Amino acid sequence: MRVIIVENYDSMSRLAAKFVKEELVRKPDLVLGLATGSTPLGLYKELIRMHKEEGLDFSKVTTFNLDEYVGLPKNHPESYHTFMWENLFKHININPSNIYIPDGTVEDIEAHCVWYEEKIAEKGGIDLQILGIGRDGHIGFNEPGSSLASRTRIKTLARETREDNARFFGGDISKVPKYAITMGIGTIIESKKLILLASGANKRDAIKKTVEGPITAMVPASMIQIHPMAIVIVDQEAASLLEREYETWEG
Ligand code: F6R
Repeated sequence: MRVIIVENYDSMSRLAAKFVKEELVRKPDLVLGLATGSTPLGLYKELIRMHKEEGLDFSKVTTFNLDEYVGLPKNHPESYHTFMWENLFKHININPSNIYIPDGTVEDIEAHCVWYEEKIAEKGGIDLQILGIGRDGHIGFNEPGSSLASRTRIKTLARETREDNARFFGGDISKVPKYAITMGIGTIIESKKLILLASGANKRDAIKKTVEGPITAMVPASMIQIHPMAIVIVDQEAASLLEREYETWEG
């Protein structure tokens, strides 16, 4: 695992965008795995800037999002469909037919999850997966206790996660859906490359356990330790409990 410590959220976002750009230039038909939440917003802003100012081309890119709430219509303001359109897709030249996000409104969720996995395989697998991390160590919505071999499926959200995400639902936890469809840890780990991003002191415990703790289903992100091409970009606050020496980036 390559751990890179940067100064703050902005440098984390710029370095992540630099890696995405390198991959995209190398492989214009990149299959990109995407996350939602606060963490990747700066990365998406930087990719939009690169598209507008440097001509970064997304026309051949395919994207797969990690997760979506169950029960929220696509046009709900807090659905991950809306999030991705507002914060990335509508600002770049991606082909809408190359965008895949789990659909939380389907009747047969199990069949939908099988279809999602098949689509990823049909596109040749995910080349580069972007990940955030929950305070409890979740990746996607794979909460502690998730099988380390899990595939795309429906999961119950941890209370901690619903509390954290209540900020997007007017602070009202009762409005936060209880279930989500998420790629499994097995699905995520099969990506050819992974970049996990974390910023801020409230992620420092999760980062400490992910990077320097044992691999355990109680810290789902710790599974990235077995990945041959995982990069963890953390700002100084998120890295503040790490004890070993790591690469730094001053850009
Ligand atoms: C969202 C996702 C989640 C978030 C995590 C951190 O697609 O996969 O695992 O990355 O909950 O959320 P933020 O970035 O809001 O702290």
